[in-house]
Amino acid sequence: MAIISNCTASIIKDAAIALKQGHLVAFPTETVYGLGADATNKKAVARIYDVKGRPKDHPLIVHISSMELMDKWASEIPEYAIKLARNFWPGPMTLVVKRTDLAKDFITGGQDTVAIRVPSHTLANQLLEEFESLGGYGVAAPSANRFGKVSPTTSEAVEEELGNLLSQSDQILNGGQSQIGIESTIIDCASNIPRILRPGSITLEMVENLLDIKVGELDSLNLERKVPGSLEAHYSPNANVLLNSEFIQGNGFIALEEIPTPTGAIRLGSPKDNDEYARVLYGALRLADSKGIRTVNVIPPVKQGIGLAINNRLLKASNLKSLNVQDQN
Ligand code: TXA
Ligand code: MG
Repeated sequence: MAIISNCTASIIKDAAIALKQGHLVAFPTETVYGLGADATNKKAVARIYDVKGRPKDHPLIVHISSMELMDKWASEIPEYAIKLARNFWPGPMTLVVKRTDLAKDFITGGQDTVAIRVPSHTLANQLLEEFESLGGYGVAAPSANRFGKVSPTTSEAVEEELGNLLSQSDQILNGGQSQIGIESTIIDCASNIPRILRPGSITLEMVENLLDIKVGELDSLNLERKVPGSLEAHYSPNANVLLNSEFIQGNGFIALEEIPTPTGAIRLGSPKDNDEYARVLYGALRLADSKGIRTVNVIPPVKQGIGLAINNRLLKASNLKSLNVQDQN
């Protein structure tokens, strides 16, 4: 599967046509690369699950070009959700709302809610606009990696993950490196108060400041109804990820630039600040695998702002390894 670079208007139009015909198109967003399919096409969406090796009850995010199209997918949109959409879209935020009949079980995993996002990456937005001008309603797109693995932040990483699983009619569009580098903040808006289901670069503080209300606890929602994906291990390279652990010669090492490399370590990432940490993290974890490094020591940033989301991903990356070890035993 060849990567398509230099994405001109006519190339983007062809990609929208491919989507409309039921093919898969991997495309860049500001968070990570997505693997797109027509969100109303059952067969096309089934291929996403096949290619990713993803369990069927794990729902997908529907991507649209502007919040005007939200009504097509959402049957109820609380005032606070409209405020969030107005402020943070287009951008790295996903809203979970009660669904309309357009959002079928094959998108929502059988839930009565649907996740919606308006991405800000120019190429993504142009692709969605073209798709909608052809009569499309939205593009379902999970991160373009095999289930449980590290999300891709470049088109090369998509090719590496999924290239041999895609067909000749599918496409991978190149739009450079994803600027944020970790997945969107997911906010549940299907109750009277918002709750953050997945932290991201739109932070808890940003949401609370905007809405002037206290965001709800996740635990209380888990009691109310099932929250898919919230408890699963994820984002894992082949290498073991150890957080704040003892260092052994030959291990990979990721930490803020100000933290010196331990003797004998292979430095994989040295971001200057937390934003850069998010941007380079997945690439650094991939680099460990491409260098055949078995163990990566990571010093996470403080759990503040986007640092919270980075810690969330690192914890899941390290958890999956310990689960795998147990599975193998
Ligand atoms: O940044 C992103 O969100 C990227 C880009 C491509 O947009 N997409 C992404 O999709 O991360 P994915 O499928 O890898 O992760 C989506 C998460 C899953 O954990 C899923 O369980 C959750 O969104 N989700 C989807 N629909 C949901 C719903 N109705 N209720 C609760 N969670 C939902
Ligand atoms: Mg994902």
